[in-house]
Amino acid sequence: MTTTAKPKAAKAKKSTKAVKSTGLKIDVQSADIIGIDTPALVVNLFRGVKKPGGATGAVDKALGGVITQLIEDGEIKGSTGETTLIHTLGKIKPSRVLVAGLGTQDKFDVQVVRRVSAEVVRFLRRKGISSAATIAHGVGIGGLDPQLSGQAIAEGAHLGLYKFGTYLTKNSDSTNEFEHLTVVESDKTRAKAIDAGIQLGSTVAKASITARNMVNEPANHMTPSRMAEAAQKVASDQGLKIEIMENAQMKNMGMGAFMGVAQGTDEPAKLIVLRYDGDPESPENNLGLIGKGITFDTGGISLKPPGGMEAMKGDMAGGASVIAAMEIIGQTKPKINVLAVIAATENMPGASAQRPGDVVRAMNGKTIEVINTDAEGRLVLADALCYAREQGITRLVDVATLTGAMVTTLGKACTGVMGNDGQLVQQTIDAGKKTGEKFWELPMFDEYKDLIKSDVADMKNSGGRQAGSISAALLLAEFVDGAAWVHLDIAGTSTSDKAAGYLVKGATGVPVRTLAQLATDLAESGAPKKSRGKTKAK
Ligand code: BES
Ligand code: MN
Ligand code: ZN
Repeated sequence: MTTTAKPKAAKAKKSTKAVKSTGLKIDVQSADIIGIDTPALVVNLFRGVKKPGGATGAVDKALGGVITQLIEDGEIKGSTGETTLIHTLGKIKPSRVLVAGLGTQDKFDVQVVRRVSAEVVRFLRRKGISSAATIAHGVGIGGLDPQLSGQAIAEGAHLGLYKFGTYLTKNSDSTNEFEHLTVVESDKTRAKAIDAGIQLGSTVAKASITARNMVNEPANHMTPSRMAEAAQKVASDQGLKIEIMENAQMKNMGMGAFMGVAQGTDEPAKLIVLRYDGDPESPENNLGLIGKGITFDTGGISLKPPGGMEAMKGDMAGGASVIAAMEIIGQTKPKINVLAVIAATENMPGASAQRPGDVVRAMNGKTIEVINTDAEGRLVLADALCYAREQGITRLVDVATLTGAMVTTLGKACTGVMGNDGQLVQQTIDAGKKTGEKFWELPMFDEYKDLIKSDVADMKNSGGRQAGSISAALLLAEFVDGAAWVHLDIAGTSTSDKAAGYLVKGATGVPVRTLAQLATDLAESGAPKKSRGKTKAK
């Protein structure tokens, strides 16, 4: 079934989407900060500054030097995330001033702004304050581009306020929601740039929240069918083409690796295909985003131990992030064709589940010995990658909570990157530098290939205990058929253990913003110079 959904509203960018968890409104006002009528005015301070200048200096002066005094007394240091609330007692129009620390100036960047913006709005929410005005962090002596500052403020605020409360029947904390943030900038040209940044930042943050919501949903709700519905919604809101394939169709196409995983559950599997035609005249200018959509990973017959298994509701984070990235791409409209392919199924140990030792055949004809049914992500991705290649995609990025080994290797600070194309790997890492999502490359040396050699099939799906993330990636590499390819293992980064900066406990939305940024960057740098070989005829 293929449908092209019409965008609901012409001004899609500004329409408020169904975002359950943040009803936050952000706007810009060209005004003088001292005279602004607000419950809280947010100013800032770099670490080490003894006598604040700029907007903070003006406020300090109007308040008779109280900020300088607090710095002198060591109560304000200006460290990142530090928040100091001062009541103004009628000396200026704002009832309170909040001094937000920016850290040292040499470490200051947009990522600091995202973090500070998040900490500030969470702090105000805890205090029961529902609206505030803020200066645009970094636009003064920080030297930041006003648009980027506006974008970072919006991203930080939306993402930092996020809560997943769908199943809480009574509100756990009695405090108000934080509802309204005004960025104050007296210069009209700058204010306009800040506003453009706020619009973009809100768009990308809301899409990250789409992914967070999907990942946080329990697996009895977020089934493969519900993932398909979520993708349908993105398609109809953004005017993307969508096609959902069912088990029978996938079997006919020869997706034996994917179907081997899907045979253990009664839940119908879905291959979700979203299409954004941003450069229809040049079909070779394309990007494929491939997502692992295991809506629950029990391990299958190679059953996982019970401790912590509930976290495996998030094993569809790759798929969710690809769907959410398409939500952004449909709005930012880069000049590139983007195909999203999400392989969605449960990995259950049902009566017809596949067994260790089974051999499956993927869409490209290659055979895989299933040593461990818990190494299911690479099996479903194998067929999804083949499908994207068959559709003529020449640059592939797959996203998956693929290996526990990734969490051991890099922890939760950065996503592991592997790939066969140095340029695309670098472009991905560079896109991450802009979004603040961190990536680190792992090697794909030929020596590791021995790990997945099988006696009975072309390869086996588990390489044992050594280099677990790399051996998984080496299996995927067998299915990209000469295309430029990058693999992102988000097993560690797709969730957070705690609230920190703009992250909250639970799903993070990583790497939604980077995928969308990569599409923009690739669109701007044009189609790849050399074609990397054609799809193999079947
Ligand atoms: N979904 C898991 C990987 C995972 C583990 C993600 C922890 C997030 C947190 C994946 O399907 C899996 O089970 N991988 C196995 C592979 C092994 C059997 C070769 C693993 O990492 O143990
Ligand atoms: Mn598994
Ligand atoms: Zn898994």
